[in-house]
Amino acid sequence: MEEQSNFFTIDLDHLKAEVNVTFPFHLYVHNPQNETFSIYLHANSPLTQEKLNFLEFILNKGGKVAINKNQEKTFLTDRKILKEDIEDLQEIPEHEFIKRRRDRVEKREKQKEKKKFHFREQLELATKNNDYMPLIREAREEAMTLSYTVSHTVSLASSLAEKLLIKDNYINRIVAIAFHLANSTGMNDPQAVGDLICAGFLSHIGHTQMDLLFSQKPQLEMNDREKRDYRKHPGLSQHLIRKSGLIISERANRVLYQHHERFDGGGYPEYKQGQFIEPLALVLGASAHIMEYTSGKITGTPVALNVVITNLKNKTLSPGLELEFGDTIYESLIYLLDTNSSVSTVESKAA
Ligand SMILES: [Fe+2]
Repeated sequence: MEEQSNFFTIDLDHLKAEVNVTFPFHLYVHNPQNETFSIYLHANSPLTQEKLNFLEFILNKGGKVAINKNQEKTFLTDRKILKEDIEDLQEIPEHEFIKRRRDRVEKREKQKEKKKFHFREQLELATKNNDYMPLIREAREEAMTLSYTVSHTVSLASSLAEKLLIKDNYINRIVAIAFHLANSTGMNDPQAVGDLICAGFLSHIGHTQMDLLFSQKPQLEMNDREKRDYRKHPGLSQHLIRKSGLIISERANRVLYQHHERFDGGGYPEYKQGQFIEPLALVLGASAHIMEYTSGKITGTPVALNVVITNLKNKTLSPGLELEFGDTIYESLIYLLDTNSSVSTVESKAA
């Protein structure tokens, strides 16, 4: 099928068509219903009255006359028309967003040439210094290079990252760790990154509709009724997004709704298992759970990040620690702990 970008459309007036005139270029017609271009009159064939009538009929039905761009010069010369008179031949000025993104991509490439980012090293430093800003900054700068033309969710992710990933706080840590974890597991095509970032920022807005107690009380200290209510937050987040009219992709919606599902079916709200869980939801779930655990939101006592990851790696049962994020994430966590020295340092510090 001929590409739309190979053609430009013209008005019938541009042909100054008379019966039985011939043109040194082919005439095509564009069918707007299926966006196809079909040859209508070969070069040097007469435009008979019958053909002219039918061409007018096609135009009345919404079709358009088109010329192949490789015959642009022939057409303009023969018809004595200036390029400026054909709308389809005008250069579309570059949108400022496209230019801005190109500048960012160039800047990022230069940065990467100078200094390569190592997730494992940076995570180790973040733990040691309790400063996640380098990890957050890296996620922000990478997300800011996302294309504006992939989808609305990707554009939203890029904008949220630019405006929000500017300080070291709890949600930004979750988004940044999820971003780097997804990157290290190869789930990093632009749409996946966009879905994950949007889901990360929006996964806990359901908390705003819940009792303040759920933001303050450690999860292990909640009674059964409180636990049941707390488990409504993914659904409340999803409900709030739908109600507000905010448009995000279906996958971003699934990821935020499923971020507490666990690979063995032990999660919530739908007790999904393994392959029935959106893989990005497990990435976000792992990041959110690790951050919840380290900050003390689960047990009431903050725990060093490397200790949490070591326990995940060794599948050490600890109160409130969830282990079931699937093999891909598990292997990624093992990779993150491939330096024994750093683990022992933090373990002994935390002890
Ligand atoms: Fe959550």
